[in-house]
Amino acid sequence: MTTILPAPDTAGRVSIGYPGATDVDFAELAPLMGRKLLNNVGDPYVDGIGTGHTKAAERQVVEIIADLFRAGDDRWGYVTTGATEGNLWALREARRRYPDGLVIHTTAAHYSVPKAIDLLAMPSVVVAADDRGEMDYTDLRRKVTRHRDRPVIIAATAGTTMTEAVDDLHQITAVLDDIGVTGRYLHVDAALAGIPLALLEPDQRPGFDLADGADSIVVSGHKFFGAPMPCGVLVTTAAAPTQASVSYIGSPDTTITGSRNGHAPLILRSALQRHGLTGLRTRAEHARELAAHTLNRLTEIRWPAWRHPHAFTVVLDRPPPPAVAARWSIPTENRRSHIVCMPGLTQHDLDRFINDLRNATRRQRRAIPRQRQPATGYRTGNP
Ligand SMILES: Cc1ncc(COP(=O)(O)O)c(C=O)c1O
Repeated sequence: MTTILPAPDTAGRVSIGYPGATDVDFAELAPLMGRKLLNNVGDPYVDGIGTGHTKAAERQVVEIIADLFRAGDDRWGYVTTGATEGNLWALREARRRYPDGLVIHTTAAHYSVPKAIDLLAMPSVVVAADDRGEMDYTDLRRKVTRHRDRPVIIAATAGTTMTEAVDDLHQITAVLDDIGVTGRYLHVDAALAGIPLALLEPDQRPGFDLADGADSIVVSGHKFFGAPMPCGVLVTTAAAPTQASVSYIGSPDTTITGSRNGHAPLILRSALQRHGLTGLRTRAEHARELAAHTLNRLTEIRWPAWRHPHAFTVVLDRPPPPAVAARWSIPTENRRSHIVCMPGLTQHDLDRFINDLRNATRRQRRAIPRQRQPATGYRTGNP
């Protein structure tokens, strides 16, 4: 028998630069990877003609996430391929409601937002983000005022990719109210931080969810839940979209893709049921403790770093030397890097990284004076 397995990660490295939890083993679901296709084609709330689907599990997942994001009675959603698809779905829905709506997002929004705008050919305006990645509400006011006569579609972020900043829906709504914008749609891309933020005590929660004014919100399933394949969950405050059934499948085509992954809802339901809300909260608290520990250690070695309250992300204001960044798969954007302390990482992993960083920096410091010597002693070649 031939076994086809991906090559293992050569160095058995842990990922500290990208946000995928690794503390959950989904191997018990492996028997589902047999011959049977699981395809949730069409609307999750209308089973349709085919029987090889997991729409009951999908509905359970959507309902749990909708409760976490404080949806009212009118609610709908589905399991997507990821937050990217959720952003596309939301902007398309916003355009359906406001065909002349102007999309607004910040410079810190994930690249999937401008991509969705491009795909949908929607007019858009980019608002500044402050130095820590949160929307600049003064710039929002300035830009919306210029377009005060048209509906506004806000693509906000709860947990920006590089710094995990959270755009505040209360401040956004206050700006729109002040300017008198009545036609509005608020979508929140909460790919990484949505679930951890939703599990905070009510007095600590920032304004980001459906009860805070969002019309839709999306999370990734392969980040905090640690799903072993890309997936996500979109939830909206609207009732199920009214669309005629497609006769071929016996279900309305209310999602973005046609055929949809039927394994993903089983994975997500398993993660939700296994941990329960208490377990999920404990994982989030532990990840924040790791982030706090990492920040302390970086401060000890005098590496410029910081984090937002509640964030798993520790921002490095100076990128690591290239060899260290490559060894630990650490991304850099605009001369900033980050570490994301996801469940599954240990203090030991992060200490190893910090020691590596410190040693590489020491080596670099020792090397620099030697390299500089010729420059100070004599000059060769062009000035
Ligand atoms: C803020 C934000 N939005 C969207 C995405 C894309 O999510 P997905 O991989 O689930 O499509 C990411 C991924 O890093 C992200 O950080």
